[in-house]
Amino acid sequence: MRGGGQLCDKGYLGCDNSPDQGDSPDGPACAGDGDGVSSGDWLLRLHHLRVAVDAARGAIHIVDDVSIAVGRGETVALVGESGCGKSMTAFAVLRLLAPPCRVVSGEILLRPGDAGPPLDLLRASARRMRSIRGARIAMIFQEPMTALNPVYTVGEQIVEAIRLHRRVSPRNARARAVELLRRVSLPEPERIAREYPHRLSGGMLQRAVIAMALACAPQLLIADEPTTALDATTQREVLDLLRDLQAADGMGMLLITHDLGIVADVADQVYVMYAGRIVEHGPTADVLSRPLHPYTQGLLECTPRMGRGKQRLETIRGSVPDPSDWPSGCRFHPRCSLSERLANAKTEAASSTTMFPETVLFPDGRHALRRCVTGGDSEGAPSPGDGDGAPSLRALRPGHFVACWEAEHQSIGA
Ligand SMILES: Nc1ncnc2c1ncn2[C@@H]1O[C@H](COP(=O)(O)OP(=O)(O)OP(=O)(O)O)[C@@H](O)[C@H]1O
Ligand code: SF4
Ligand SMILES: [Mg+2]
Repeated sequence: MRGGGQLCDKGYLGCDNSPDQGDSPDGPACAGDGDGVSSGDWLLRLHHLRVAVDAARGAIHIVDDVSIAVGRGETVALVGESGCGKSMTAFAVLRLLAPPCRVVSGEILLRPGDAGPPLDLLRASARRMRSIRGARIAMIFQEPMTALNPVYTVGEQIVEAIRLHRRVSPRNARARAVELLRRVSLPEPERIAREYPHRLSGGMLQRAVIAMALACAPQLLIADEPTTALDATTQREVLDLLRDLQAADGMGMLLITHDLGIVADVADQVYVMYAGRIVEHGPTADVLSRPLHPYTQGLLECTPRMGRGKQRLETIRGSVPDPSDWPSGCRFHPRCSLSERLANAKTEAASSTTMFPETVLFPDGRHALRRCVTGGDSEGAPSPGDGDGAPSLRALRPGHFVACWEAEHQSIGA
């Protein structure tokens, strides 16, 4: 165990900079340094998190250097296409990853309810984690049925969740379970408490799962696609319910979703994830109204919006690459229309495309900027400070971070 209960010079518990730890091989792994995440009244802070799958060929990084902060009472959305690593990030927070998946490095810091120092969940004992799961951090999983055991009634399962963490009599726990079912607006909560999960509709099940998650009034709720399985009306009701409960309790929420419409409605901050990395984050209104990363722009163009008329929806060509074969340079380059547009403009201006050093010509006839493909300059030399050749997150507007060289270049020129 690292950190050994000592505080580092910035006051964090279980941190690599604690007095007895010396320098970390990854550099100063401490929530006090800059990582594109604004400091402030955060409740949960992921710091340079890396998750890998152990395969025959070696470790495959499916979550790669991810830093996210969730404030008290704040809703933070994590968005991205399927396979980007959103659920793996959430599972890592609760230490629910099972082999062959594991956390390779990073920190997951949770601030306690009192003024005590943050706890690094990755270094917490198994016993401590059991006391945190469900009590201080609760999770709503992608599929409500997977969260409920089909052989126990809904009430029995909520009672068990309560009694696991609180010293209450069975009678009082049952009363609290019914009260929770009432709180999530389920009709006839006494009857629902006696029902088995298969007897409830999808919307009712999701409300029951939310009731169970809220059983011990957690500080933080991780909701992984909490409304995907629901129809539009029920989706709206569940989101409104979560928002009301959050306003009443000051609970922080990490909301994982594909749906940018939901993000616009409920999130204070948004993190856009692509191929295991955060490529853009900032205040929701700013990111959604003025997205700077071509991937975020592509996601927004794929999203139907009211008042757009019969305009055809765009798609982002191709799909999320396989983690065992992440593209070189910027991981988004095989799909990036901005890189292609700029490369086309350069080659059209040049007398001979094959001689043009700043672009790459692919066998399918598509051009891209060389830097986007190789991560280096036009001579192929690596760009200083860009690590493995991918662009790093940079603040291009107040609180708004983007990992794209061209967005950076354009913002400097603007
Ligand atoms: N047990 C596993 N073994 C190997 N690879 C895995 C395992 N679980 C997940 N992965 C891979 O990790 C990557 C990230 O998966 P993750 O479930 O986090 O994606 P996601 O962003 O949550 O997608 P979705 O929106 O579909 O839920 C994917 O490429 C997936 O194939
Ligand atoms: S760095 Fe290049 S490939 Fe990556 S998003 Fe920006 S323009 Fe596109
Ligand atoms: Mg998922």
